[in-house]
Amino acid sequence: MRAYDCIAKKRDGGELTEEEIHYMISSYVSGKIPDYQMAAFLMAVYFRGMTDRETAVMTQAVAHSGDIVDLSGIQGIKVDKHSTGGVGDKTTLIVAPVAAACGVKVAKMSGRGLGHTGGTIDKLESIPGFSTSLSKEKFIDVANRTGLSIAGQSGNLAPADKKMYALRDVTATVDSIPLIAVSIMGKKLASGSDCILLDVKTGSGAFMKTLEDSAALARCMVAIGEAAGKRTAALITNMDEPLGNYIGNALEVKEAVEVLKGGGPSDLRQLSLRLAAGMLELAGKGSAEECLKQAEEALNSGRALERFLAMVKAQGGDEECILDTDKLSAAPLRREVKAEKEGYIFHIDTEKCGIASVLLGAGRETKESALDYGAGIILKKKPGDRVARGEVMAVLFASKEELFHDAAEKFREAVEISEERPKTEKLIFGKVSQEGVELF
Ligand code: URA
Repeated sequence: MRAYDCIAKKRDGGELTEEEIHYMISSYVSGKIPDYQMAAFLMAVYFRGMTDRETAVMTQAVAHSGDIVDLSGIQGIKVDKHSTGGVGDKTTLIVAPVAAACGVKVAKMSGRGLGHTGGTIDKLESIPGFSTSLSKEKFIDVANRTGLSIAGQSGNLAPADKKMYALRDVTATVDSIPLIAVSIMGKKLASGSDCILLDVKTGSGAFMKTLEDSAALARCMVAIGEAAGKRTAALITNMDEPLGNYIGNALEVKEAVEVLKGGGPSDLRQLSLRLAAGMLELAGKGSAEECLKQAEEALNSGRALERFLAMVKAQGGDEECILDTDKLSAAPLRREVKAEKEGYIFHIDTEKCGIASVLLGAGRETKESALDYGAGIILKKKPGDRVARGEVMAVLFASKEELFHDAAEKFREAVEISEERPKTEKLIFGKVSQEGVELF
């Protein structure tokens, strides 16, 4: 078999056989196929797409390119949750303990920030002492004892994806629905849970900017999961504005803990409850309504907070920083961004807002950049709010004075103020399951 023939077949719109797909993936991982041939192949897929069968086969090839995590040592049903990435999206910190408090196990491998979006691992590492680098035994033990454990991806999880993602990142082939689906689901299938709930973001801060594309991505991922024998569903949720009011690692832990303590912003609380309910439903805990009630009860009773505290302690984190989140890292400098005119906050370009927080030190400019855990943004106004001229729209946090100029400029660029009141956006646009797409 030759890579050249597989590339030409896909370029001409053909459907690849299982053997051809496995050959392309395994030969790329072993180094037999060079980057330039894989880049040409990925571009052919980008333009020609893949059939459901090709996508499912490629996902299995990516999942089996490295270790498959064995979670059989964890008692009960294991449910995973994955977000396609967003700004201010700290739902995992709430959803995982809520689901655990309702009797399912969440043993989850999470990622770091990518581009303008944040990552759960970076957020958790802002808790002093918290370790995301766990041995397999510890990962399983923490999940058995507390109901949840969250670790960084093990070194050999889906290595084909690691290599292909780096190549896609520099060859303009990231935003392809089948390639994103293969990348995400390859890692999820290798992570060993029984059920997978996907949070597919849509809007200006998401990979998929339109509802149509987000629904197509969700459908594709659900089909892959179900074909692999995992109960899989997706919620399509709004990322046309940041989620909650806090952006930045320690700031987001703080806001998530506020929700676990019964407060916090309503969008974050509502979405977290719906996601947790979706996980419970997949695990067979009842109807959608019953699962939502269970999730609400776990949050309102404080049982979810107890689970979170137990997990933080078991993974070496300082519990005191959760009991009193003022003890978490805080950047020493702050700068207010004020409105230049009166009106309604009409829109916040979420990607630009995420970039502003990266510029403050909350994300990485390069792979090697060190994070400033206390850096970030507190939004004082969200779309639909009225502002007076000179009123504070946001407070920026950083450790170096010189970071404020560009970040404040980017934040201003992100915010559109208008005399027109924006229409209220839905938080959740729809649900995709084996049964099909249900738009709300
Ligand atoms: N997240 C991933 O893991 N892969 C993609 O291709 C896009 C987002």
